[in-house]
Amino acid sequence: MRIVLLGAPGAGKGTQAKRLADRFHMRHLSSGDILRAEKSSGSDLGKTLAQYMDAGKLVPDDVVVRVMAQAIAAPRQETGLLLDGFPRTVPQARALDVQLEALGAPLDLVAAIDVPESLIVERITGRRSCPQCGEAYHVRFLPPRQAGVCDKCGSRLVQRDDDKEEVVRKRLAVYREQTEPLVEYYRRKDAGKVLFFDGAKAPDAVTADMVETLGRYQQSEG
Ligand code: AP5
Repeated sequence: MRIVLLGAPGAGKGTQAKRLADRFHMRHLSSGDILRAEKSSGSDLGKTLAQYMDAGKLVPDDVVVRVMAQAIAAPRQETGLLLDGFPRTVPQARALDVQLEALGAPLDLVAAIDVPESLIVERITGRRSCPQCGEAYHVRFLPPRQAGVCDKCGSRLVQRDDDKEEVVRKRLAVYREQTEPLVEYYRRKDAGKVLFFDGAKAPDAVTADMVETLGRYQQSEG
């Protein structure tokens, strides 16, 4: 399956993407993780990215499309693809359509995770992430077994540079303006391929809903 995950900052895209990728043997590509890795490398491109990311702005389309096109084209074992955080604008979605059509591997589904904005700031400001393996936690909703330490690899957890409240509010405004219109973009192409999930439920309940729906889709196609 090739799936795009849509949702506001803090909707739970990264949390669910890791679980779904394991469950359905898909390659999980997170544009945020890929851009953060470049940023922390200290390269010239990384320094440019930091100016956008730390301010809660989108990185320009041409840069993101180039970086993500390379990642998508890289040969990998997994046949499926789960895109998390990309595309995020209509021009990015068009570029992705062109690339996937050229690869003969069009999108199967768009999974949109809905969460009311009232829940988002608490979710994001309480997030802690593992700088080694990328696992995400929440100090209240998804705490690690030992405070501040990754369950999976034992590294010390960190808070992202863009998870401060004022930056989160900027990211939400950018989402509403530039990313939310993608739901309509995909619905106009094929409304049957756009699925909505209630992301206000607890993490395991969201996973259960998504696994059930995607499992049914996979069976109907296979
Ligand atoms: P990116 O890393 O993609 O950030 P985002 O979209 O803002 O999403 P988040 O990672 O904040 O949230 P998420 O939905 O993954 O939530 P998570 O699962 O972690 O992008 C960062 C920046 O990179 C952008 O601002 C931009 O500058 C740049 N960028 C990236 N892609 C780009 C693109 N395509 N074009 C241009 N620029 C781009 O969950 C959040 C927290 O809530 C966690 O603590 C988690 O434990 C908790 N949680 C998750 N689910 C639940 C639940 N159901 N109940 C309670 N808590 C939950």
